[in-house]
Amino acid sequence: MKSVDKEAVAIIPMRLEDLDEVLWVERSSFRDPWTRTLFEEEFKNPDLSHFMIARCEKHVVGYMGFWLIQEEAHITNLAVHPAFRRRKIGERLLFATLHLASSLGAARATLEVRASNEPAKRLYEKNGFQLVAVRRRYYVDNNEDALIMWCNELAPFRHPWKKQGELESA
Ligand SMILES: CC(C)(COP(=O)(O)OP(=O)(O)OC[C@H]1O[C@@H](n2cnc3c(N)ncnc32)[C@H](O)[C@@H]1OP(=O)(O)O)[C@@H](O)C(=O)NCCC(=O)NCCS
Repeated sequence: MKSVDKEAVAIIPMRLEDLDEVLWVERSSFRDPWTRTLFEEEFKNPDLSHFMIARCEKHVVGYMGFWLIQEEAHITNLAVHPAFRRRKIGERLLFATLHLASSLGAARATLEVRASNEPAKRLYEKNGFQLVAVRRRYYVDNNEDALIMWCNELAPFRHPWKKQGELESA
């Protein structure tokens, strides 16, 4: 597919039936992908674990998850299939997921990202996340550092009518 109409992409909660396609996205996006079993375990903890998918013309093209731990949303995964990147799908997933987290009581959100992952770092910085700490050589496959980022203000995500990129004026 050459272009994706914004209206053609729906951001909706993930169901167990979506798992085959979520694994397709996961395996295309990470060198150490989560296994089917790991995802299945997440579904056993619905109070803790929440996942959204981006669906485009019946296919899952991206997904994002978080754990709700008291007032904190701990982002566990975010990926968009390589064929669908740079079309704001990642940003829409981030926005919808943090909206959900906020509506469930989260006051702030955190994540870790590889130091070399420029696309993800830019996405998070653009949307209010700040670097707070570095875990040296956290990733065992290549000894890469993990950057710990926090977003301490989820209020802008509470307004579903606000669009991504408008956070500065929120
Ligand atoms: C990170 C990822 C989810 C971004 O998804 P995406 O749908 O391509 O991103 P979007 O089109 O929504 O981009 C939103 C913003 O992110 C940043 N961004 C995304 N891709 C970028 C790239 N290749 N280079 C620079 N900035 C980028 C930009 O700030 C962009 O805003 P802009 O379009 O106004 O410049 C995607 O690259 C991905 O799945 N990567 C592999 C998995 C991964 O690294 N996940 C994050 C783990 S922490």
